[in-house]
Amino acid sequence: MRQAQVEEQAATIRAQTAQLTDQAVVAERLRIARELHDVVAHHVSVMGVQAAAARRVMERDPEAARDSLTAIERAARDGVGQMRDLLGTLRVADGDAGAGTGAAAQEGADRAPQPTLATLPDLVDQASTPLCQVSGQVVESAPGAAGRVPPPLQLSAYRIVQEALANVRRHSTARTARATVRVDEDAQTVEVEVVDDGSPRVGTSGTGLGLQGMRERAALLGGGVEAGPRAGGQGWRVRVWLPLDGRGPGSRLVSAGTAAPAGTVTPAGTPAQAGTADRTAPVDTSAGTPR
Ligand SMILES: Nc1ncnc2c1ncn2[C@@H]1O[C@H](COP(=O)(O)OP(=O)(O)OP(=O)(O)O)[C@@H](O)[C@H]1O
Ligand SMILES: [Mg+2]
Repeated sequence: MRQAQVEEQAATIRAQTAQLTDQAVVAERLRIARELHDVVAHHVSVMGVQAAAARRVMERDPEAARDSLTAIERAARDGVGQMRDLLGTLRVADGDAGAGTGAAAQEGADRAPQPTLATLPDLVDQASTPLCQVSGQVVESAPGAAGRVPPPLQLSAYRIVQEALANVRRHSTARTARATVRVDEDAQTVEVEVVDDGSPRVGTSGTGLGLQGMRERAALLGGGVEAGPRAGGQGWRVRVWLPLDGRGPGSRLVSAGTAAPAGTVTPAGTPAQAGTADRTAPVDTSAGTPR
């Protein structure tokens, strides 16, 4: 009788362990799929837009065409580097025979550091094209707050900006776009906002995985996403809330409304502008729902 109970418990533990392993594998696969999507979409769309710009100005402005070609070269180089990093991650995550030692460990050691909020200016720089000027800023509630954001949150915020800007290039006629990340240590939130001034471009299509990835990233950290046409004006807006501890209930952040409390996210008592002034139209969320 006792023996039977022990065997039953052992079987239950085995089944639960297998289930947890399966869940971990699925979660890791989704993580890599999100990274792959955002990295590829960004670099390929930069190359596409810069190539179009180069072709357009080649005759009358060779200097601008040269800048675009340089941007293409850089996007290709960075893209390949980051793809290689991801493939390295896959090998290690897959329990490659050499994981932790030898070749796989060396690949890991060689890997470029993950993007952070400090690397956002580079991203914004890359995202600017002759057709669309992109600006960006990180707003801190206190000096150094951005650097204190846990690395996984920094990476998520970076990827969300990256995909939102890739979407501007692909789906919008925008001439300008603005990315803002507000780090508020008092409210314990990171808020990411990307707005553009364009109209939806006709005839673009995609897989809808970009917004889905943003929602997954936010949900994993207990945050929320709003995406869609801007209320009362032209353009599109993506706004994401992430709790700084990475564990806050998303519902709390979403129900906090469409605006950060005034004055809490900008330094020196400056009222929060974009969060309060710029909202996403109520119809938006469905408009941004992946198809
Ligand atoms: N800045 C924008 N302006 C206009 N429409 C947009 C903008 N961003 C997103 N959209 C719309 O939202 C849809 C969903 O975006 P999402 O990123 O999820 O998918 P996608 O870009 O079409 O494909 P992918 O899976 O390659 O990202 C887009 O197809 C587009 O119709
Ligand atoms: Mg997309």
